[in-house]
Amino acid sequence: MNKEVRERSPLYRAVIAGYGSFAPEKKLTNEELAKMIDTSDEWITDRTGIKTRHITTDSESTAFLATEAAKKALAEAHLDAGELDLIIVATITPEMVFPSTASFVQRNLGAKKAWVFDLAAACSGFVYGLSIVQQFIESGRIKNALVIGAETLSKITNWSDRTSCILFGDGAGAVVLEKSEDGRKGIIYSNMFSDGDCWQALNCQAYGSRHPANKKLEDPKKIYMEIKGREVYQQAVRRIVEAVTDCLEHCGLSIDDINMVISHQMNARIIESAAKRLNLPDEKVFLNIAEYGNTSAASVPIAFNECVRSGKIKRGDIIIFVAFGAGLTWGANVIEF
Ligand SMILES: CC(C)(COP(=O)(O)OP(=O)(O)OC[C@H]1O[C@@H](n2cnc3c(N)ncnc32)[C@H](O)[C@@H]1OP(=O)(O)O)[C@@H](O)C(=O)NCCC(=O)NCCS
Repeated sequence: MNKEVRERSPLYRAVIAGYGSFAPEKKLTNEELAKMIDTSDEWITDRTGIKTRHITTDSESTAFLATEAAKKALAEAHLDAGELDLIIVATITPEMVFPSTASFVQRNLGAKKAWVFDLAAACSGFVYGLSIVQQFIESGRIKNALVIGAETLSKITNWSDRTSCILFGDGAGAVVLEKSEDGRKGIIYSNMFSDGDCWQALNCQAYGSRHPANKKLEDPKKIYMEIKGREVYQQAVRRIVEAVTDCLEHCGLSIDDINMVISHQMNARIIESAAKRLNLPDEKVFLNIAEYGNTSAASVPIAFNECVRSGKIKRGDIIIFVAFGAGLTWGANVIEF
């Protein structure tokens, strides 16, 4: 690693002490979707890599999923919820308009000491969240934090739009970050980017202040997610390559130094195409989209949890998290695990 990055080593680093994920039991397979809309397992698998996705029932909310993932991460970290300093929930499908989903998670966990907020950066929310915690821990302001990505995208999916409904699923993933004085391990570097000019590429317009609930919608479909798939596809490949390249350059690392890249799981073809441009071999790219579809902010922590538990990464490995999504937003974290 670049000497400058090593020497910049802050007094404290944010180390991943625990991780966990949770997905609703109910699944919706491509075959089942093909009975609802004009599509096929072959088309979906070929264009996206998705085979099935987890879907919440009416009684399963975002805070419920987030809490279940958080409990697993806390158990892994051997940390009592009462000791938490900060809880961030990254989501675009919050529990309600307010209070924040994080407030419900705090209540569910009994994390009395924590200050809490939601982070709305769509699919990049978890990566943005880690970057924020990195700053607070490095400055010595907090000693630990819980960052959760949690989504119930099925609740804002237009199930009659075959160009979008095949893509999304529900779930949650969480990590506990703790202050460490071992300068080597932890989050080494983060970058974050955005481009509001492209907001129309991915959006869900109702019911915010532009389309309040007390006014009849001109287009009732505005309560659902809208995507311009082709536009997003091209941007996503470009931005993932850009974020990872910046990480490598900034840290003085090469692809050989990286053990695994865990990308937001938006489409296997997008990830493979970005990996090819980065000269990343297959074994350094983790994919679990076949089982989950795109779970937005939850996707990176769910993938990370599965990657660790399946033994594909181990303590001491250097990994990169990278995400891209609505906003547009994108960013990455370099972590010595
Ligand atoms: C959505 C996505 C899978 C579509 O794949 P694509 O190869 O770009 O496909 P196109 O949109 O060009 O459509 C190709 C054809 O398939 C058809 N099609 C679209 N959805 C279909 C479906 N579910 N089943 C069968 N055919 C479908 C289209 O109508 C079109 O038909 P036509 O050629 O007769 O007009 C792809 O663009 C994508 O993954 N984009 C990014 C997804 C995204 O936004 N994720 C969230 C951001 S993180």
